[in-house]
Amino acid sequence: MDVMKTRQAIAALNTYVPGERRADALKLASNENPLGCSPSVATAVQDAVRELHIYPDGGARDLVARIAAHRGVAPEQIITGNGSDEILVLIAGTYLEAGDRVLIADHTFSEYEFAARLYGAEVVTVPMQNLEIRPLDYLPRIDERTRIVFLCSPNNPTGGAFSQAELEEFMAGVPQDVLVVVDHAYIEYQTDPDAADADALIDRYANLIVLHTFSKVYGIAAVRLGYGIAQPQRIEEIKRVRQPFSVNSVAQQAGIAALADQEFVQRSLATNLAGMQRLQALCARLGFPTLPSQANFLAVEVPIDAREAAEFIARRGVTVRALTSFNLPRHLRITIGTDAHLDRLEPILEELAAAYPAAG
Ligand SMILES: Cc1ncc(COP(=O)(O)O)c(C=O)c1O
Repeated sequence: MDVMKTRQAIAALNTYVPGERRADALKLASNENPLGCSPSVATAVQDAVRELHIYPDGGARDLVARIAAHRGVAPEQIITGNGSDEILVLIAGTYLEAGDRVLIADHTFSEYEFAARLYGAEVVTVPMQNLEIRPLDYLPRIDERTRIVFLCSPNNPTGGAFSQAELEEFMAGVPQDVLVVVDHAYIEYQTDPDAADADALIDRYANLIVLHTFSKVYGIAAVRLGYGIAQPQRIEEIKRVRQPFSVNSVAQQAGIAALADQEFVQRSLATNLAGMQRLQALCARLGFPTLPSQANFLAVEVPIDAREAAEFIARRGVTVRALTSFNLPRHLRITIGTDAHLDRLEPILEELAAAYPAAG
């Protein structure tokens, strides 16, 4: 008999189930950059490979300096991580005691809940309005046990962004000992000038942390690199929890090269905009409602169970994400591809619409 006991918080967790990988399929399931990454990243990675026997710079100083210059903040305001996933866990490990509360939206990125539960915190979900996050709805739910509010904008998996005006009003009402984590993983894609940019509020709020990633528009998800921006005292606290070498040398060099190629970023954004318009028009023609998106993916409502629809599409060679685990059992999340990718997807969605005409 196995008598080993995990911590209580761990007993309630499940092992992460990685998404299925289908060798020949076109993957439009994880919001990766369909153009790949900047060609200069490959050169940087090859150079880094020559020094694989040397430990990385634990401070990632060169990378941090460049991120700081890019964002117009001081290096002391940056923490890098093995993906922003790692930073979410570090934040939870820095600020949460068992029994504390965190607030998250009812349809959002799963890592917030994971990080909170890992440290025994209680997760309180705040209902979205018309599938949009409204930060002001969080204020009345903050109580003396609430320690962190996680806000994602543009939100994964729905794609909407809340406004800067609402974020500012929300921040003004949040108690100063409640941490607000704004996840801007997709912010580069947003085109709405009123959409929130939490970086602009960091100087004003010591209880704000903003997360960014190199996994989306910079196209280097495989090397795992993300960063957080906050006032220096927050960064110093979170660094106490961090492993010294979590961002390896290959990731550091890849990040420096990726950041330097803003022309690639612009090309990626143009490709995304064109692909978004094409996919939105296609869904409208087929009678599949879509949610407004400021990101590199589109949430699409389908006339059948989302898992069945995703399987139907996968059998024809394209993987997309069923949003069942995000509590949206009739929605798919489709990453915006290139024109060639959409040429592959289009007939499959047409076939889906023909096989399952929308009720009514
Ligand atoms: C909202 C959001 N935040 C963070 C991440 C994770 O980013 P990273 O690859 O930097 O861990 C993702 C990835 O899908 C995401 O959708």
